[in-house]
Amino acid sequence: MYLQRRNRITRRTDAIRSLVAETTLTPNDFILPIFIDEGKEIVHEIPSMPGYYRRSLDKTIEEVRTLWGLGIKSVLLFVKCDDNVKDNTGKESWNPDGLMQRAIKAIKDAVPEMIVMTDVALDPYSQYGHDGIVDIKSGYILNDETVEALTRMSISHAEAGADFIAPSDMMDGRIGAFRKALEDNGNTGVGILSYSAKYASCFYGPFRDALDSAPGFGDKKTYQMNYANRIEAINETLQDIEQGADIVMVKPAMAYLDVIREVRNAVTVPVSAYHVSGEYAMIKAAAKMGWLDEQKAVLESLTSIKRAGADLIATYFAKDVAELLG
Ligand code: PBG
Repeated sequence: MYLQRRNRITRRTDAIRSLVAETTLTPNDFILPIFIDEGKEIVHEIPSMPGYYRRSLDKTIEEVRTLWGLGIKSVLLFVKCDDNVKDNTGKESWNPDGLMQRAIKAIKDAVPEMIVMTDVALDPYSQYGHDGIVDIKSGYILNDETVEALTRMSISHAEAGADFIAPSDMMDGRIGAFRKALEDNGNTGVGILSYSAKYASCFYGPFRDALDSAPGFGDKKTYQMNYANRIEAINETLQDIEQGADIVMVKPAMAYLDVIREVRNAVTVPVSAYHVSGEYAMIKAAAKMGWLDEQKAVLESLTSIKRAGADLIATYFAKDVAELLG
């Protein structure tokens, strides 16, 4: 015979709740995506991402110093290119003097310990806003030609000083190709964070506004995953690990917590999740209307993503939360 406890002692006060909490957020959990523009002194707010900015390189450096001071250890770089360098080969993406390459060098010079991760995909460089080279006749993406272009891009990021390349393109066989090229080039210390389970999602909308990279025609369903599938995420992820990925990713995050958990259970490398632009925008919009408490919504969302199994979370809220935790 035992006495059933009606008031759970382990939930009674804030102190006890935190004593027995299974999941806690720290700035160490975060990767902060940052958007970089040409020019000087530019701090441009993204209309569909209030409170989030695209900055010129000088302003980016100031921001990165602040982030390091807040305990954020890793940034994920995205650039917005001028229309006149966009084409269907993506060749600007491996220009040694391109905006991305200059940004990597400048950040590593300013804050050498900051872990610099770089987006690898052709969309900011593509006249069609696609992640790969478009076969004009069929409208499909040319997989192998794209992998070749992205390999050159990866090498150029590595030579500029990137710590991790982060391929978000979802072409087949790319991780193996990048790993081999990095090894052959002597860039053995450069890691690969692979967007291994990246779904074709409407939640990327605000990001495409931020970088002016929306597909000019069609959608990305021939290379990004169908959101109806879970087992396929495991297949994609295991293939990427087999080919040499050091960290894997599930993207988006909140609508894919089951996928994060499945992947966490299936692999023995770090798992990251990308809390994407649309997920940021939803919370911001509801908070602006007075319909949600922003801070509570952010903490609940990010804690849930970590609880689901993400070791790392790429999120536009990283700075706010680091400030809050600080
Ligand atoms: C492009 C890329 C996208 C995002 C990261 N890299 C957009 C897309 O695939 O169309 C989305 C990030 C976000 O929405 O926050 N390769």
